[in-house]
Amino acid sequence: MTTDPRALPGADPHTGNREIDPVTGYETTGHDWGGIRELNTPFPRIALIALALTFAWSVLAWILLPAWPLGRDYTRGLLGLDQGEVAMDRLQAIETDRAAWLTRFDAPDFAALATDSALMAQAMPAARRLFEDNCAACHGRDGEGGPGFPRLADASWLWDGTPEEIAITIGHGINADDPDTRVAEVPAFDWMDRADRHSLAEFVASLPAGEADWNSPAAALFAENCAACHGERGEGGLGIGAPSLTDRATIYGQDAQTVYQTLTRGRRGVMPAWAVRLSEAEINLLALYVSRLSEMTGEQGQ
Ligand code: HEC
Ligand code: HEC
Repeated sequence: MTTDPRALPGADPHTGNREIDPVTGYETTGHDWGGIRELNTPFPRIALIALALTFAWSVLAWILLPAWPLGRDYTRGLLGLDQGEVAMDRLQAIETDRAAWLTRFDAPDFAALATDSALMAQAMPAARRLFEDNCAACHGRDGEGGPGFPRLADASWLWDGTPEEIAITIGHGINADDPDTRVAEVPAFDWMDRADRHSLAEFVASLPAGEADWNSPAAALFAENCAACHGERGEGGLGIGAPSLTDRATIYGQDAQTVYQTLTRGRRGVMPAWAVRLSEAEINLLALYVSRLSEMTGEQGQ
């Protein structure tokens, strides 16, 4: 008996024909385990078609789109598509769109701008992004502030809460590197008797609760040393950067220990000037946004 070495597995060694399973009509592999035969099921046609299609698409993509790196360059493809350019075009479109309404903030009439609800619908989200990019690191994402950085989302202002005044604060900063910067500091009262500093600190800490004794020796110290900047009753609002000491908004903290530190060392917070980094229109946009933060977060500050 001769066996053709090229015969397929499962084929009859004499005829070369494969055995066909009578039930399914498929070929068998010829393996036989005690009467159990293995079917030689064909590869599903749908998978073959999908494979052929993806192969064809990849060849097409190599021809049409940027595909192969060539050292410092790459094949451009016949369509000449460039994701970088597409992105730049899109950015340009956004920029042009923004420029169209942003010019209205060049020399703004804030009151009129604020009542233009169509403009506000475009401007406020853009202002929020500008705020998140430039201001949130110090003032918090929602202007909530933090130790050393005043809360902007309330009605308690160091300077003034009108958009006009806020624009000046943003543009020129506070104690900043700018010729027109706002200047404000608590001088150090380290010359003052330590016991006096302590009683003054207790006194100031008790102001927000409204329980301070205005006939005490500490009140006399306050009148003599502090009232000129913070107001006769510590109410602030004199437009010289000294905060109200009677509300609950604080920059550094108004517990007796922190106030004692403030008196001993003095404080001179720095708010950078933005006129060098942002356009005037952007500063005005931010000023309007900041002036409305307390309304937007529903806080009035006490
Ligand atoms: C590096 C930190 C820092 C960044 C960034 C910063 N600020 Fe300030 N900002 C301060 C500090 C500190 C003060 C308070 C200064 C002081 O103590 O007198 C302040 C004060 C202010 C005030 C005055 C608040 C009041 O009650 O009158 C406004 C308004 C303000 N910032 C807005 C902004 C805006 C808008 C931006 C973004 C363009 C910004 N700040 C970015 C640190 C910062
Ligand atoms: C020359 C004006 C001036 C005088 C005088 C002055 N302050 Fe101030 N005070 C300021 C300014 C401006 C700030 C804000 C400083 C900053 O933010 O860096 C401030 C901040 C403070 C703070 C911090 C408030 C907070 O929210 O954390 C306390 C407390 C304070 N002053 C208490 C006093 C007391 C008490 C006296 C009197 C012994 C006094 N100050 C005298 C201008 C003054």
